[in-house]
Amino acid sequence: MIDNKFLITKLEEEHALTEEEFVTLLTEITEEDQEYLRVRAQTIARKCFGNKIYTRGLIEFTNYCKNDCYYCGIRRSNSEVIRYRLTDEEILNCCKTGYDLGFRTFVLQGGEDGSYSDEDITRLIKRIKSLYPDCAITLSIGEKSYESYRMYYEAGADRYLLRHETANEKHYSKLHPEKMSLQNRKRCLKDLKEIGFQVGAGFMVGSPYQTIEHIAADLLFLKAITPQMIGIGPFIPHHQTPFADQKQGKLELTLTLISILRLMFTSALIPATTALGTIDPKGRELGILAGANVLMPNLSPTTVRKQYELYDNKICTGDEAAECRFCLDRKMKNIGYELCVDRGDYKLMC
Ligand code: 5AD
Ligand code: FES
Repeated sequence: MIDNKFLITKLEEEHALTEEEFVTLLTEITEEDQEYLRVRAQTIARKCFGNKIYTRGLIEFTNYCKNDCYYCGIRRSNSEVIRYRLTDEEILNCCKTGYDLGFRTFVLQGGEDGSYSDEDITRLIKRIKSLYPDCAITLSIGEKSYESYRMYYEAGADRYLLRHETANEKHYSKLHPEKMSLQNRKRCLKDLKEIGFQVGAGFMVGSPYQTIEHIAADLLFLKAITPQMIGIGPFIPHHQTPFADQKQGKLELTLTLISILRLMFTSALIPATTALGTIDPKGRELGILAGANVLMPNLSPTTVRKQYELYDNKICTGDEAAECRFCLDRKMKNIGYELCVDRGDYKLMC
């Protein structure tokens, strides 16, 4: 009999396990262990953040992408996607709507769209910052040079999301074309941190060819780079990608990993992702109850929502920003939490 309670306690006290221990915990975990782990993680999140949930308004401003990641619905080779770019004015309109609804962080997310110069991005950052000086800007626009990242930071961007996707080289090459490399992804994360961004990394749970050993390596990789934000969500197949027939990631495993991450990174900003809400109608609530503390509803105009489909059946593509805000307000109240109006910067809370 392996004593998983012992491993969970060790994880809570030391915020880390060895690779072998992670593999054991993830392989042998029982329902009872899972519940014990969940309660420990939720207790820590409550201690650090009370019943407050941070929100980020997500603006998906371009679905053009030069990359061809095998899992992603907006990959370059998907010729069925209707491509769009929002104008600066449209983006600023999203910010206005978002601000009035209580968002104090805007996440500018897009494919790796070569038509934007660094000047275009910095101009946009400066315009948003001058109109909303009390808001944080998070960028999620992929791999760039050190110099580009530095320009964005100097223009006023505060945070950067760039999931590492998998910390295993071989696995990385099964998810991405040869042109992309884990090495460059790591270089980007290192540069971002060095420049001063609050950095977000993460991976998909149950991505094709992923093993428990890969997940253990992901957890150790995260430990080594200690990001301020960690985004994980289940892999969900998109019907117009090479992974159309692959299996979806599991709800239970995703929740277990959220709890493990909370024990490893007590103060981290961990979202209950849209992907989690897509595979289960209660997914985001369960994510919060497993130790997550962030929600990232969509602020993009409903006219383009459907076109930013990274995976099939993505939720909220028909809902106005206000509807999502109110819906999440309600969902959180139902489980004893509330959305707060706050930038929600990373702080060492506990
Ligand atoms: N299923 C789940 N998540 C996905 N992402 C991309 N495609 C999918 C998919 N099919 C995630 C990636 C990326 C983030 C923006 O969305 O991890 O980094
Ligand atoms: Fe978008 Fe519920 S969060 S409708």
